[in-house]
Amino acid sequence: MTLQGKRILLIISGGIAAYKSLDLIRRLRERGASVRPVMTAGAQAFVTPLAVGALAADKVFTELFSREDEQDVGHIRLARDCDLIVIAPATAGLMAKMANGLADDLASTILLATDKPVLAAPAMNPKMWSHTATRRNHATLVADGIHFIGPASGEMAESGEKGEGRMAEPLDIVAAAEALLDNGPKPLAGKKAIVTSGPTHEPIDPVRYIANRSSGKQGHAIAAELARLGADVTLVSGPVTIADPKGVTVVHVERAEEMRDAVIGSLPADIAVMVAAVADWRVASASGNKIKKQPGEAPPPLLLTENPDILKTIGHHAKRPKLVVGFAAETQNVAENGRSKLQRKGADYILANDVSPHTGIMGGDRNTVKVIGKSGDEDWPEMDKQAVAERLGTLIASHFS
Ligand code: CTP
Repeated sequence: MTLQGKRILLIISGGIAAYKSLDLIRRLRERGASVRPVMTAGAQAFVTPLAVGALAADKVFTELFSREDEQDVGHIRLARDCDLIVIAPATAGLMAKMANGLADDLASTILLATDKPVLAAPAMNPKMWSHTATRRNHATLVADGIHFIGPASGEMAESGEKGEGRMAEPLDIVAAAEALLDNGPKPLAGKKAIVTSGPTHEPIDPVRYIANRSSGKQGHAIAAELARLGADVTLVSGPVTIADPKGVTVVHVERAEEMRDAVIGSLPADIAVMVAAVADWRVASASGNKIKKQPGEAPPPLLLTENPDILKTIGHHAKRPKLVVGFAAETQNVAENGRSKLQRKGADYILANDVSPHTGIMGGDRNTVKVIGKSGDEDWPEMDKQAVAERLGTLIASHFS
């Protein structure tokens, strides 16, 4: 847990995205951080200090000239007694105040008085985000050393308008906070890692394809974690909708054969972690044109042929990385099937998980894995995919210390 013991001052300003800050508080605290909340007047129109305080398990600060608070903690101490200030959501208005050094309420005064790193997660209407004034303020703040995460693109909660302006997801804000606070050891410095992630799409014709279910969340989190530990990481990703992780070289591919070529092209490496849900089969000869329905005729038969097994290829390659890790998606006999995959594919570890539909693992944020190694099994408790990545990072690092 990289946020263990870190003190985060969370400034919530007034926007509909403030409801996501409640989840953000939980995620930060889950990772061992303490969260001290400050709310602007606007924020309190969207979420209550009671809810924020309950989740943070701390007092919520709202007033600049509260006699009680000033004697107790005071705005200067609030600005300094923390390791990081996170602003989520950061409204256009608060950004404008910050860019101009305006201090007319508790939040803006803290931001002017602080000497700590500041991470802002903007959230606003796309037109406000793209407005020249906001562009100017953003550029000023970046030049002033303020760190930004997001905003993301998507539909606005209130107006249904589409565009850039949605607040980054809580887990992305957590990852950005971790990256900022990270001055930890780099046990994988000088090591090269290849990670596969996401599904592959195997074309049937130009409009249809065969695919496995996979969001890429687990593979992307592992790539980011290995990079955080100092490794030089190449992530070979199938088609996913999530963002490229920071600090990682990403090769985007579509089909299994392209993924294999990209992985082999990235050798030599010290570490390979094959997380992708590669389609086991592809259509023997995909049609160059859209296959049309023929009235009165039976649907066209699909002749499938086997895709290359990338993990197995790497596990038995002349340039085999020192450490090869695979995953096993199982719906039954998790341990047995995982162990046979370990042997068959020449891996050092298999992280086996039960992907029966009731577990919600595919596409979800959480994962329960059984680690199968040459010298035995280990059950990890249910945790989120980021935590799985961190624990795997520790395991991998132990092989290089
Ligand atoms: N894998 C791979 N290339 C493939 C198929 C799988 O690299 N063509 C890798 C996955 O990235 C994962 C591991 O092999 O690390 C196991 O994937 P899984 O789908 O569980 O296994 P399969 O080989 O498909 O075995 P089965 O269909 O028998 O469950």
